[in-house]
Amino acid sequence: MNIHTDRRSILGGLLASPVLSMAPTAGKQKSRGGLSTLTDLDFGCAVQARHVLVDQGLRETILKECDTITPELELKWDFVESDKGQLNLAPAQQLAQIVTDAGKKLHGHALVWHKSTPAWAIEAILDQREWSIVTNFFDAIMPPFSKAIDSWDVVNEPIETGHGEDGLRNSFLMRAFGADYIERAFVDARARASRADLYLNEFGLLDAQSYSSAKRAATLRLLERLVSRGVPIDGLGIQGHLDLKRGPIDQQGVSNFVQKVADLGLKIRISELDVREASPDIPQTNRDQEVANAVAALLDVVLPFDNLTGITCWGISDRYSWLPPLSITAGLNRGLPLDSDLRQKPMYWVLENALRQRKPSKSSDRV
Ligand code: XIL
Repeated sequence: MNIHTDRRSILGGLLASPVLSMAPTAGKQKSRGGLSTLTDLDFGCAVQARHVLVDQGLRETILKECDTITPELELKWDFVESDKGQLNLAPAQQLAQIVTDAGKKLHGHALVWHKSTPAWAIEAILDQREWSIVTNFFDAIMPPFSKAIDSWDVVNEPIETGHGEDGLRNSFLMRAFGADYIERAFVDARARASRADLYLNEFGLLDAQSYSSAKRAATLRLLERLVSRGVPIDGLGIQGHLDLKRGPIDQQGVSNFVQKVADLGLKIRISELDVREASPDIPQTNRDQEVANAVAALLDVVLPFDNLTGITCWGISDRYSWLPPLSITAGLNRGLPLDSDLRQKPMYWVLENALRQRKPSKSSDRV
């Protein structure tokens, strides 16, 4: 059991969570070193290269706050090779340069994803059933980033319950290659990145609804099968797209789930943390607090696990969130740590306090 100590005593319940109650009022505290300096845990966010290149404030902020940066689009197959054979690697390379010059890393996202496969490739795969069409993409994208990238999402969102074999999504990949495509993807990723951490990344694992517990069960079945067959997988990325309309997460269910993943010897990372708001008509302070509460409820559960390697937000500033504005009057969705002017919000303080509780800071480790 990879728990530092009793979970409840560290972080407490949802609303009384020390992560939250220790958080100072937004605006009254300036961050010192940024979240990247606080612990052994990797903190990161997703960004688009075009935003980082034009927005100096964003660039400085991500380099201060993050250990690891995830290209939001630039490594996806439909971005890199929307036309067969015409590779567009420049935006990812520009981002890699900025990040590695600052001594940081990129997290590679994502090698195999039904949603980011270009139309020409889907057609060719269904037509020819040739796995080399997929590995040709691996060959295009992995070697150029071998220095910048030390972890990859190898297979993204393979689970869909309610039909199909073992809760696996009935994607074109399943239709062309059967369930083995997942195993093949990890084996072929490992052949091209011998030292990187290789993750399976999935969404919908956190909620209290039966849909989510079924997804947790199907994910576990898949992970057990992969591990028992010696597939080179290092961990599970748990997408943290929280949605206040869906109600509180299932803390007990998620905790049991993470424990079982840990028991398989796998790491976890919270891979795409953000909060979709529900109530446009309440004061902004309450909105920000609701967002922070939801994040605290998740961190309560995952932080005590030693196999947690990092937390990545899906964006860092509301200005560039992929989530649509909440409403015309309420403006942008406020589900990221920083507002549209890069000012810290309660979600930031929740993250900071949570990271501080995790372990001694890296700098004091070194002393
Ligand atoms: C999203 C990006 O944020 C959008 O800009 C893009 O249009 C679609 O993809 N799960 C994932 C991410 O794994 O790659 C998705 O990113 C969000 C959901």
